[in-house]
Amino acid sequence: MKNFYSVEDVNDIESFPGEALEVKNNPLNYKALGNDRSLCLIFLNPSLRTRLSTQKAAFNLGMRVSVFDIGKEGWQLEMEDGSIMNGNKSEHIKEAAAVIGSYFDVVGIRAFARLQNREEDYQDTILKKFMEYCGKPVINLESSILHPLQSLTDLITIHEFSPVKQPKIVLSWTPHPKALPQAVPNSFAQWMLAAGHNLVITHPEGYELDEQFTKGATVTHDQNEAFEGADFIYAKNWSSYHQYGQNLLHDASWMINREKMTLTHQAKFMHCLPVRRNVVVEDQVIDSKDSLVIPQAANREVAAQTVLIKILKNL
Ligand code: CP
Repeated sequence: MKNFYSVEDVNDIESFPGEALEVKNNPLNYKALGNDRSLCLIFLNPSLRTRLSTQKAAFNLGMRVSVFDIGKEGWQLEMEDGSIMNGNKSEHIKEAAAVIGSYFDVVGIRAFARLQNREEDYQDTILKKFMEYCGKPVINLESSILHPLQSLTDLITIHEFSPVKQPKIVLSWTPHPKALPQAVPNSFAQWMLAAGHNLVITHPEGYELDEQFTKGATVTHDQNEAFEGADFIYAKNWSSYHQYGQNLLHDASWMINREKMTLTHQAKFMHCLPVRRNVVVEDQVIDSKDSLVIPQAANREVAAQTVLIKILKNL
């Protein structure tokens, strides 16, 4: 594997969850792979799970890791080619990416959508420019439009906990006080469909996602109907794609509660975290025996380590 930007960088999605669970059972068996190799994790936005799980995964492989909060500690980056840099941006991404690539063997980067201009966000400029200029494998730690490490984690978790071979998986929009990007639901849909899963997406009108990621899923505005017979409920808020970046409504009735979970086939509850309790999901659901949020978050380490192994084997 060269880069890990999206599911399109994976040519063995069917075997990926099984390989990941083998890594989970024997995390220190691959230590020689990362000896004398280095990883730089670059953050333009906050993170708990991605930052710590990817570091831990790299430590399991014997790698040395640097974490750089470039948004706070670095120079302000210019992204435009041909720009006259006489404003407040001191460094062009061409140099920044190439310099970082000269110090490290693998580079991970997180850069969220700004939710102001859909065309700009969906170009995913920062990730694309890093892949173009840094000269080393790049791992997407959540970009404007995709969060593949999260989705691989979700695939592994579903594989690990599914009661049946072909589970019914429901991605449900939930309320949230802030407008959030579409990276997690885009990526979740993309990975579930690529893995051949039966995916139902439910959301209020106006929250349709970009069809390039959801083509093949069943979409319904009736949340209760979607929940019927479900094996997994994956909760997530996202802002509108068509009325770009807008939080169109705050309808508390879309919160995941115990009553809705009774419609399901004793579904497992999933969320990528962080989650707003009693806004996105009721305490009784997230604290129940059917909640997978902690094992799911723990699998972030497994997903990151499996991806790093594939990249290191290709160096
Ligand atoms: N789910 C996830 O990516 O968590 P963080 O934003 O804390 O890294």
